[in-house]
Amino acid sequence: MTSTSTRRRTAILVSGRGSNMTALLAAAADPACPARIDAVVANVPGAPALDKAAEAGVEALTVDHRGLGGRKAFEERLDAELRAREIELVCLAGFMRILTPWFVDRWSDRLINIHPALLPAFKGLDTHARALAEGCKIHGATVHFVRSEMDTGPVIAQGAVAVLDDDTPETLGARVLEVEHAIYPQALRLVASGAYEIDGMRVRATGGDPAMPAPLIVPDS
Ligand code: GRF
Repeated sequence: MTSTSTRRRTAILVSGRGSNMTALLAAAADPACPARIDAVVANVPGAPALDKAAEAGVEALTVDHRGLGGRKAFEERLDAELRAREIELVCLAGFMRILTPWFVDRWSDRLINIHPALLPAFKGLDTHARALAEGCKIHGATVHFVRSEMDTGPVIAQGAVAVLDDDTPETLGARVLEVEHAIYPQALRLVASGAYEIDGMRVRATGGDPAMPAPLIVPDS
């Protein structure tokens, strides 16, 4: 078991409903998880994720991006809140705000994100509709270290689903979301354990437990 004192202090940044946050909170509720969630921060007042975090007994706070005098002031405040709590790792989970190179560099290799597509395909928004429009037979989700270019960075975990003939963006997105909830906790465990190395865009496990998450491929059902 990982002792409490060595668990990595982790914050989750959210903007909306927080289903990935809930999956991370559930994983970190296990005392053997090498990450503990110390704070959930929303940039949107009243984001539904805030209540869910508070219900789970985790500090939930808002740093409203409006009215702080611009992007830099917002990020300085966010950074200050994270440092005040001695946060070591930051998970973006549906955080709908582009972070500047200043913030990304300050949290370099300690900032991870989940994106609902198999990167490097379909960076940006509306990934499920775009995957359908392109006729993809496989679609999925990616957890990656954040770099200053949007939806780019060393890949920690990926999971895939088959695209079905009658899929809509909603039905496809719902299956991808289940994959997200499976791979994000795995990726957080690996990163919090420290048992990995980053080599360019590649992330390799360096042994021990947890191992590199195996690519999750959900069979056609
Ligand atoms: C997820 O699909 C995530 O991949 C994307 O935004 C969505 C957030 O959903 N970045 P939730 O708030 O975690 O439910």
